[in-house]
Amino acid sequence: MLTSSVQNLLLSSRQYTPSIKRKYRINSLEEYESKWKESVENPEAFWSKEAKKHMSWAKDFHTVFSQGKSSFEWFLGGELNLSYNCLDRHLERKSEKIALIWEDEKGNSKKFTFSELHKEVCQMASVLKSFYLKPKDVVTIYLSTSPELVISMLACARIGVVHNVVFAGFSPESLGARIKASSSKLVITSDGFYRREKFIPLKATVDEAFQKYSLKSSVLVFDRKAEKISLKTGRDFLVSDFPSMKLEDESLDFFSSEHPLFLMYTSGSTGVPKGLLHTSAGYLLGALLTSYYLFNLTDEDLFWCTADIGWITGHSYIVYGPLSLGTSIFLYEGGLQTPDPGRLWRLIEKYKITKLHTAPTAIRLCRQAGDKWVKKYDLSSLELLGSVGESINQKTWEWYFDVVGGGQCPILDTWWQTETGSTMLSAFPGLAPFKPGCASRPFFGVLPKVVGSSGHPLLNTKGSLILEHPVPSMARTIYQDHARYEKEYWPEGFLNYKTGDAALQDEDGEIWIHGRTDDVINVSGHRLSTMEIESFLSANELIAEASCVSIEDSLTGQALCCFVILRESTCEKNAEGIKSLISNYISSSLGSFAKPKKIFLLKSLPKTRSGKILRRTLRTLAEGKKPEGDLSTLEDATIFESIL
Ligand code: WT7
Repeated sequence: MLTSSVQNLLLSSRQYTPSIKRKYRINSLEEYESKWKESVENPEAFWSKEAKKHMSWAKDFHTVFSQGKSSFEWFLGGELNLSYNCLDRHLERKSEKIALIWEDEKGNSKKFTFSELHKEVCQMASVLKSFYLKPKDVVTIYLSTSPELVISMLACARIGVVHNVVFAGFSPESLGARIKASSSKLVITSDGFYRREKFIPLKATVDEAFQKYSLKSSVLVFDRKAEKISLKTGRDFLVSDFPSMKLEDESLDFFSSEHPLFLMYTSGSTGVPKGLLHTSAGYLLGALLTSYYLFNLTDEDLFWCTADIGWITGHSYIVYGPLSLGTSIFLYEGGLQTPDPGRLWRLIEKYKITKLHTAPTAIRLCRQAGDKWVKKYDLSSLELLGSVGESINQKTWEWYFDVVGGGQCPILDTWWQTETGSTMLSAFPGLAPFKPGCASRPFFGVLPKVVGSSGHPLLNTKGSLILEHPVPSMARTIYQDHARYEKEYWPEGFLNYKTGDAALQDEDGEIWIHGRTDDVINVSGHRLSTMEIESFLSANELIAEASCVSIEDSLTGQALCCFVILRESTCEKNAEGIKSLISNYISSSLGSFAKPKKIFLLKSLPKTRSGKILRRTLRTLAEGKKPEGDLSTLEDATIFESIL
C-alpha cells in the first residue's frame, strides 16, 4: 500500500526543480550512484581516501576499520587535533577571512576572523589547563549560542578534554543531573543572555544545580556584563581574571582517532537521559564530508544553521562541519520571532546569508506568521536551504521552496540522529527534481534498508529503518552504560544499526521517514502513525500546525487525540464547526477508524526551546490531567491553562 505522502506526490504533476541551475560537487544521478556504489562496495577504501584528502593528520592511521565483540573503531593508529583541523590549518590562506559572525536579540554583534578565533581558542585552552584537566576529563558547558560557546568547545577539543554541552534552556534539575552523570570536573557558563526579551540567568541556574546535587566541580564564568554575578570563593572563577598567554608558548598535543570528543545527553524511550559519546576522527569526517557534499560549503558561503549549539545539529553544522572546511558561520542568539516574525529574514538580508539550515517547526511558525514577513526582505543571497529534525510535510516544503527560496534553491531534507553524528539520508542539491518531504538518498558509505518484522527488505511498504554497517561518525557508546548502547542500537552485533524510525523506500529507491516506531497508534487494530496524521492535518489550509497522541479507549484500545493550531485567518470562526470539519477531514482521508476522539484548538503547542513537541505532556493533557515534573524547558508554560 502506498502511503499518503507518496500518493499525494503521484497526484501532483508539479516538478520541483530550482529555476537557477548551479554547479554542485555532485551534479547528476549517475555521478551520485557511482560514488555511492564505490563507497559501500569498498567502504574502507572510500573512507580512507576521504579522510586523507580532507583532514589534517599529525600521524597517519594504519587501519581504517576494526571491529571487536563489543566495539568498533575507525582510523586506528592515526593522531590529530580537531581544534587544529577547524582553525590552525586555515591560517596560512584564510587568517583574515571571517570565521564567525554573531548577533544577539538586542542587535549586539561580533565578528571573528580565523586568526582572531584561533587566538581566543588558544587563550581559553590555556585557561582550561590551569584547572589541571587531563585528557578525557569531562567539562560541562552551559552557555547560549554565542562565540564563547564555540570557543569553549574548540578549547576543550584542543587539549583533549571531553565537552558536554547542556542546552541553555535546561532547568537546574536537568543541568545538575547532567553535570553529575558526566562526572564533570568543571562547568563553564556566563551570567546569562536574553531570549524573547527575557533574561535567562545561566550562572544562577548553575548555582541552583550545584546546591540541589551537592556538586563539587569548579565553575568558570564568562562575564558578559548582562547581570551582576555572585562568585563563590574557591569554586567560581572569571575567565577574564586569567593572564593572557603568548601564542608562541603554546604546546599543541595530538590525540588518537578514537579519543573521546564530546558527550551529548538525549532522551531515550525510558525517560532516563543517555549520554552518547562521540569520538574524534570519525565524527569530524562525518560532519565535514556532509557539509562538503550536501551543503556544498565553500569559501564564498556564509552558512546559518539556526539550531542551538546545545544540540547535535549545532555541534555538527555550526561548529565542526563548517569550520573544518574553513567556511564562515553565522550565529544568532535569541528568539527567531523576536521582536517580530521578520527577524530571520531580516538577518538573511543584512548579512547576505547564502545557505540556511533550519527545522520544520521553525518553518511552520514562519509560514503561520504569513508571507508578508518574508516578502519584505531581499533574500536573493540564498542559494540553498536545509531542513532537519522531523519530517517536513508537502505544504510546508512548498512554502519553503516557493516563498523563502523563491523557487531558486534546492531543499536538503536531512535525516539523522544524535547517535549517527552526521547526516545519513538526504536529498542532494544537484539531483533535482526534488520530492517534497522525502529524505531521499543515503549519504556516501551509508547502507540503509527498510525491513519487515522478520528482517526481510520491503519496497513501497512501511517498515523499520536500519543502517547495515557502522559508519565513522556514529556514537561509540552510552556513557557508563555500554550494555544499553549495544542492546538498543546493535541487537544483532555491529550489523544492522537500529534507528528506531519507520520508513518507506519507494520505487526510485528513495526513502520517506515515517516517524519513530514508538509513535505508532493502534486504533481497533489499525496501525496509525501520529506523524502521518499530523502531516495530513498540516496540509489542510485551515491549519498551521498539529500534534497527535493516543489515549486509552475501552472500545478501540487506543484512540486518537489531536491538538491543532489554526492559521491566523481562521481563528475567529466558530470552534465547534471547525472541530467537526477537522474530524471529517481526517476520517474521509484516512478512514473512519482514524476519526479523532478529541480535538483541542490551541494557540501554541508545548515544545521545548529546541522545537521538540512534548508528546508525553500532551498525552497527560489529553487524559484531562495536569502535567507534572520539570516543565522548565518549555517555550511557553502558560499554554497549559488554555488547554485545561
Ligand atoms: C530523530 C532524531 C537530526 C538531528 C536533530 C535531531 C527525527 C530527524 C528527520 C527528517 C524525519 C527526522 C527521526 C530521528 N528526524 N531528521 N529529516 N525527517 N524525521 O536529532 O533529537 O537525535 O532526533 O529525529 O525520528 O530518529 P535527535
